[in-house]
Amino acid sequence: MLLPLLIIFGCSAIVWFLVRVRIPGNFPPGPPGYMSISALVNKNEPYLSKLLVKLSEKYGPVIGLTAMTRRFVCVSGYEAVRDVLNNAQLSGRPDAFEFNLKTSGLRRGVLMTDGELWREQRRFTMHHLKNLGFGKSSLEVTILEEVSDLIMKLEAIVGSSPSGNIILDDVFTLPVVSVLWAVIAGERFERNDPRAKAMLSSVTGFSRASNGGPSILALFPFLRFVAPEWTGFNHLMRHISLLRSSIQDVIQQHRQSRQPGYSRDFLDFYLQSLDDGPANSIDSTFSEEQMMGIVIDIFIAGAETTGYTLGFALLFMMDNPQVQLRVQREIDLVLQGRQPSLSDLKNLPYTEATLQEIQRRGIVAPLTVPHVALEDTTCLGYDLPKVLRTNRLFPSAYQLNIS
Ligand code: HEM
Repeated sequence: MLLPLLIIFGCSAIVWFLVRVRIPGNFPPGPPGYMSISALVNKNEPYLSKLLVKLSEKYGPVIGLTAMTRRFVCVSGYEAVRDVLNNAQLSGRPDAFEFNLKTSGLRRGVLMTDGELWREQRRFTMHHLKNLGFGKSSLEVTILEEVSDLIMKLEAIVGSSPSGNIILDDVFTLPVVSVLWAVIAGERFERNDPRAKAMLSSVTGFSRASNGGPSILALFPFLRFVAPEWTGFNHLMRHISLLRSSIQDVIQQHRQSRQPGYSRDFLDFYLQSLDDGPANSIDSTFSEEQMMGIVIDIFIAGAETTGYTLGFALLFMMDNPQVQLRVQREIDLVLQGRQPSLSDLKNLPYTEATLQEIQRRGIVAPLTVPHVALEDTTCLGYDLPKVLRTNRLFPSAYQLNIS
């Protein structure tokens, strides 16, 4: 009796596997084989983005890759990227094991979530970030204070280098962290505050190791039990634990010092919503873990992108002194020595165009944030099958206890 059952079970498993591993007919072209994702590992080209550009020269703007039963698609170029960004069915995010480590293994935050939670939390976040001055002149005072500090720091670095060679490292990223922190937690980091450096190091350490793309740990999460050091699991956990504990400290301080009904910063707004409002309903997407997720996401998404854009600005100016001169002349003419304001932008067309060109050329997020197909759909005529979220079937397997 047992043998026939085992045979039926075994045959069903093989058929299921063969069906799942089969590459759909109109799947985008790419390197052959059932593990073609291995084409992304090439010791001659360590930069994944450059490797993808080379692959796209061979296979076109939509490349299909496989890892046994899983499918990955890489798009490049204006047409394909526009097709993806305009397709609501492709607005999903992967259930990224490594990225979820930041929120105790749960899918929280706004960067790597989708569906109702993402919609509601994104709306809340955008609304309150705007209230707190994002994209508005009210944040200018904080930004200009950081700019003064930055100029002093740059002068000191240049002055202390007899050779004229300087390493800029995190010079531009630290002020960005400080501005983001001011919006989130209502306090500016003082110059040389070790907390800013520690926070930046945890954010960059974690985000570089968990970009949501294919990795050994993402493909085979169980390996963290077998080889936590080799898979990078311990590395991720060290960074995220540090980051979480510094954010947790500030949340605790906010709980004690805040006055209900009066919100000083993003944390106050969120704590208020946990006290009353939408957080109280049973199917609410508001939670403490979600608050932690949003704060970490803002640092991951905002710090290096903005900081490195400024770094690229300096590099391109050095390479193009004639552009630097024209920008300087326009700024001198319009500002007449005073500090800049967002309202000056309309009178600085050459400077604005230069900034846009810097963003176009200085690609700070070449792989952007991964998307998944929520339903069967297409991109430039190729079929993209709906992603089966296996992690969702066993969510508790990924819950961790991190404080
Ligand atoms: C030069 C600076 C920046 C660049 C180049 C940049 C680039 C990007 C890119 C490419 C995406 C992914 C879009 C997608 O495919 O779905 C993204 C998403 C995001 N960025 Fe930025 N970003 C920058 C600054 C910031 C800042 C300062 C913040 C923080 C407030 C931020 C917060 C976010 C968030 C929360 C998302 C996820 C949005 C969503 O899924 O709804 N970014 N960014």
